[in-house]
Amino acid sequence: MPRRALVTGGSGGIGLAIARSLAAEGCEVAILGRTAERLEAARAMIGPACVAMRADVSQRADVEAAAAALAERWPSLDILVNNAGTGATPRVALDTPLADAEAAWDADVGIHLKGCLLVTLALAPHLASPGGRVVMISSIAAFRAGGLAYGSAKAGLIGLTYALARDLGPRGITVNAVAPGYISDTQFSAGWPEARVRHLVDETLVGRAGRPEDVAAAVRYLASPEAGFVTGEVLHVNGGALFGR
Ligand SMILES: NC(=O)c1ccc[n+]([C@@H]2O[C@H](COP(=O)([O-])OP(=O)(O)OC[C@H]3O[C@@H](n4cnc5c(N)ncnc54)[C@H](OP(=O)(O)O)[C@@H]3O)[C@@H](O)[C@H]2O)c1
Repeated sequence: MPRRALVTGGSGGIGLAIARSLAAEGCEVAILGRTAERLEAARAMIGPACVAMRADVSQRADVEAAAAALAERWPSLDILVNNAGTGATPRVALDTPLADAEAAWDADVGIHLKGCLLVTLALAPHLASPGGRVVMISSIAAFRAGGLAYGSAKAGLIGLTYALARDLGPRGITVNAVAPGYISDTQFSAGWPEARVRHLVDETLVGRAGRPEDVAAAVRYLASPEAGFVTGEVLHVNGGALFGR
């Protein structure tokens, strides 16, 4: 029987690469995102068997509805990839007015941290047991000074990964995180100034930007049946940028 996977944010960038790579391995894949047109375009690329679900991971009602629909369609879920995210939330700085900082914090934490909790808890009863795999997409921003709100949310996601690994481990379910560095060809990083991109590439030890497929390969491993003894881990996919030159 094919394994079944849900990739949140599977309609673009890294999530789409993950969804395509799992589908290429023979998985049945569902993708979840907020925009119908992006979902439809991605579904066309992944294949007609792909299930597209419209939901905002930061909204509990959306998550409950999506989880219920998935549970009705599939008897169990083998792989959950919590990838949905955005670079479009406003940046918080020391001089950001408090009300704006609060709104930006709520948006960043809502999508990048609370969303992962809601989706995982909603689907936990349906995760294959034993053998289920949960993979969080964190960020290099969690491991060095990142955006005040975004970096905090992505660092919090590492704590959530550890706690869920503890709680789901007894059911034979692993929970790990992948922490990408700069990844090109995403909406997230589209429009970044050339100088910023050059700096980020220069920081890597391998001298190139990451690609969505680099992250997909790491997820594929952590989601594989062979990775059953790996849990509560963070796999860095950043070309060595964390160490710098
Ligand atoms: N690109 C990088 O350099 C980089 C580096 C480190 C970590 N990351 C992380 O990698 C993940 C994927 O980012 P990406 O670079 O692939 O970005 P992307 O190209 O903007 O794709 C993001 C995906 O997430 C969906 N999404 C965004 N907000 C959502 C929400 N609230 N609910 C449901 N779906 C939502 C988007 O669809 P809709 O907008 O239609 O909802 C889209 O499918 C994110 O968690 C990001 O923080 C990216």
